[in-house]
Amino acid sequence: MIVRPVVEKYAEEVSSPAPSWLAALVADTEAETDLPAMMVGSLEGEFLAAVVFALRPRRILEIGTFTGYSALCMARAMPEGCELHTCELNPLHVSIARKHFAASPWAESIHLWEGPALTSIGDLPGPFDLVFVDADKPGYIDYYEAVLPKLSPHGLLLADNVLQFGGVANERDQQPDTVAMRAFNAHVAADPRVRQSVLTVREGVSVIRRVG
Ligand SMILES: C[S@@+](CC[C@H](N)C(=O)[O-])C[C@H]1O[C@@H](n2cnc3c(N)ncnc32)[C@H](O)[C@@H]1O
Repeated sequence: MIVRPVVEKYAEEVSSPAPSWLAALVADTEAETDLPAMMVGSLEGEFLAAVVFALRPRRILEIGTFTGYSALCMARAMPEGCELHTCELNPLHVSIARKHFAASPWAESIHLWEGPALTSIGDLPGPFDLVFVDADKPGYIDYYEAVLPKLSPHGLLLADNVLQFGGVANERDQQPDTVAMRAFNAHVAADPRVRQSVLTVREGVSVIRRVG
């Protein structure tokens, strides 16, 4: 947690709860995967839904599906006709996500691309009105560079886990993911093509938009 645990818990309690139908996906994720904590959770899931609600995107790209939690949080707020493309490498994660996408009301609107995300991004034409980056941390700069030209002029790019529970601000923390996130944050901060706002939501979420 970045904020004090008691405050994080309070924020979760007074934020709208996750829809009850997500419980089956959470149960499968906890039973079948090693790291169920990779799901964005109810607080950030509701934040993503609010962004989709306000932005009214035509096309969304997610990098890092896992078992589909964040994709379904975004899907439930999509306007009519919106399509969501999501990229995942791990076959177990793909199979769980496919099962829950198929059972959802958005089965026709969600397109899951199996394989390395950079390859899938290369195959997918833009523009995207919303991009959510939540895959391997050392890949973030490459994902950013690959998707920025495909971000629509009024689109948003959200990058998850950018503060690594605050570790980025502690130079003694040299864990690979923390080092990667420090490099990503500095890369975006120095990029004159964009403006970014780094929010202390959960592990840190950057809100990035193009300028000019
Ligand atoms: C933090 S999890 C995503 C969590 C998801 N957004 C959610 O809320 O449930 C990161 C995912 O990225 C996937 N991943 C890692 N490297 C990848 C790559 N090169 N291409 C595509 N997916 C990748 C992992 O297998 C993992 O499922």
